[in-house]
Amino acid sequence: MDFGYTEEQLMIQEVARRIAQEKIAPSAEGFDRSGEFPLDNIRLLGENGLMGIEVPAEYGGAGMDPVAYVLAMVEIAAADAAHSTIMSVNNSLFCNGILTHGTEEQKQAYVRPIAEGTQIGAFALTEPQSGSDATAMRCRAVKQGDGSYLINGKKSWITSGPVAKYIVLFAMTDPDKGARGITAFLVDTARDGFHRGKTEPKLGIRASATCEIEFQDYVARAEDVLGEEGHGFKIAMGVLDAGRIGIASQAIGIARAAYQATLAYVRERKAFGQPIGAFQMTQAKIADMKCKLDASLLLTLRAAWLKGQGRRFTTEASVAKLTASEAAMWIAHQAVQIHAGMGYSKEMPIERYFRDAKITEIYEGTSEIQRLVIARHETGLR
Ligand code: CAA
Ligand code: FAD
Repeated sequence: MDFGYTEEQLMIQEVARRIAQEKIAPSAEGFDRSGEFPLDNIRLLGENGLMGIEVPAEYGGAGMDPVAYVLAMVEIAAADAAHSTIMSVNNSLFCNGILTHGTEEQKQAYVRPIAEGTQIGAFALTEPQSGSDATAMRCRAVKQGDGSYLINGKKSWITSGPVAKYIVLFAMTDPDKGARGITAFLVDTARDGFHRGKTEPKLGIRASATCEIEFQDYVARAEDVLGEEGHGFKIAMGVLDAGRIGIASQAIGIARAAYQATLAYVRERKAFGQPIGAFQMTQAKIADMKCKLDASLLLTLRAAWLKGQGRRFTTEASVAKLTASEAAMWIAHQAVQIHAGMGYSKEMPIERYFRDAKITEIYEGTSEIQRLVIARHETGLR
């Protein structure tokens, strides 16, 4: 057992922390208010290797391991969760799947621009009628005589959908086969037949742009298939295993920011002649916050370490995501309570942490879906 980080891991953490503190934190409140997509900051993250942390240098990335990814994500999320959402989709949901299942040509064409931050990637699984029940998708890809596919259908809630150049899309090629009838495609949004809906107004992570997308007779060439026909659902699930480590890290970043702000506040704010942090009731909250934060980080590092070892980490990623997202929501809730009036005010970032924390319990599999994944594994029952 070694609880220390390597020099490389500390280096990327330091790079992420510097950009987070110097560039992202000062602009976070403005982006939250306007909902504007933070394109310049995303480019800067790309220039510093943070859009393709686990992507090998030959495809434009930083060539680091999953633990380095966790550390960097935590720093960015602590400054602004919306930036870390965009970062997590580019890193885990977009690059990761293509690196694992893509051809050499696909890796060069699609991974490089996203890892370098010159373009934005997206991942399209969810549909208006199917979120948790992902195999109930209706988006259809029909094979043509020349080996190409004609794609028709809608995908909803697509993070970075309004700005993405490339999208990893999941569509049904053989509805009779259920999960085994789903195929993954690489979509170029500049091509005919691709349409974007309006950007969704959201409770939190407001600078991360989300929209519905629609395919109307979009033609995917045979070389646009990612992996093999019919293997799309397994690709999606494998990618989400990794993605859940990213969302756990995001939750830890939000929770750490809320915790640190609270620690400072309980020392300085006075009531009944003493700092509010001296009240036992406040101290108990601080102790619980600290325990949940540490447990979340250790569980997330465990999942990342397993991934780095090339071992299966599905259950551990769900344990990490469930624990960290519920911890983030609880910690942000307590942070608002301890800041009381100031926690409810837009003059401090506490209410933003509270709004941002909620999404971590919803996307990349709700808390109920994480419990389902964990319990199916533990009991062998379904
Ligand atoms: N890795 C590899 N294969 C997997 C797998 C995994 N983690 N999980 C399941 N599979 C395989 C199974 O082995 C099975 O394969 P066979 O056909 O060979 O037996 C196949 O996939 C179907 O598996 P299930 O029967 O378990 O499928 P299910 O219909 O019961 O669904 C589920 C399982 C876990 C509920 C899944 O549907 C799920 O994760 N739902 C949540 C969807 C989700 O997380 N969406 C996120 C969208 S992206 C997003 O949200 C991005 C963002 O916010 C930024
Ligand atoms: P539903 O699946 O309809 O679930 C409704 C409720 O029922 C939930 O509480 C759920 O936990 C519960 N439930 C469902 N099934 C079960 C069960 N078997 N047991 C117990 N309870 C159950 N998707 C993408 O593909 N790409 C993206 O980039 C993306 N980004 C997103 C960004 C945002 C801001 C949001 C809000 C969503 C995003 N999503 C994305 C979609 C997201 O993954 C889904 O919202 C999520 O998976 C839940 O699906 P749903 O909203 O359809 O809820």
